Amino acid sequence: MITRSALAPGVLQVEPDAAAVAERVADTLLRALRRGSCLGLATGRTMVPVYGALRRRLADLPSPERGALLAGWRSFNLDEYVGLGPADAGSFARFMAEQLGDPLGLPAAALRLPDGLAADPPAEARRYGEAVRRAGGIDLQLLGLGNNGHVGFNEPPCPADAPCRSLALSQVTRQQNAAAFGGDPAAVPAQAITLGTAEIRAARRLLLVVTGAAKAEVLRRCLLEPPSAALPASWLQGHPGLRIVVDAAAASQLPLS
Ligand code: GLP
Repeated sequence: MITRSALAPGVLQVEPDAAAVAERVADTLLRALRRGSCLGLATGRTMVPVYGALRRRLADLPSPERGALLAGWRSFNLDEYVGLGPADAGSFARFMAEQLGDPLGLPAAALRLPDGLAADPPAEARRYGEAVRRAGGIDLQLLGLGNNGHVGFNEPPCPADAPCRSLALSQVTRQQNAAAFGGDPAAVPAQAITLGTAEIRAARRLLLVVTGAAKAEVLRRCLLEPPSAALPASWLQGHPGLRIVVDAAAASQLPLS
């Protein structure tokens, strides 16, 4: 595997603000859809402007091309809370339906997520990881960054090759995601199912998207410290298909000339 510095110009792209980041990322997603790629999709506030920009691009296409892209849509989301399904406002299934599924009129089966309502979460995680493999893996994996360095819900400590699994969420993460649960961290489910660092690193291309000054320090550590279980996103370093798009605020702790 060819290792390239995470700060090299072809890897890291710094945009002025979150809106500009969203435009660049939506361009990449549209190109991937045109190639018939299998997308790995992510949730979180970072992705709201990204999906808004993608919806606008699709709306601007001539209707036959838009129809063909939507008919060929193939995606797997990274993660879902255990115990929540599409009817729950805080679920990632609901988030994806609101952001993409409903406005684009995608068939329910096109936007795949782990089933948070499955009776046996470890078995569901194995099934989901297998479904990703059977589909030929992910061509382009979109990733946000947790405040504790998680990607998907791969909470630290996490090895480089963790498989899709169910796991307990950390307090930091439940705090980070509390806004979707009336601001109460205790209302955030305690468990989730996530694609592992194994499936994520097996994706042919990775697109890490980070915005806001609050993530500047964790981004710096994930890109510049030696990869370690303490910072799951640090395992992305050296992936030959890694691209990182950030705004100036998130880049503020990076040693860029
Ligand atoms: C959740 C998701 C992560 C995402 C993170 C970032 O924890 N499981 O995949 O990276 O949110 O959230 P935000 O974009 O809201 O900061």
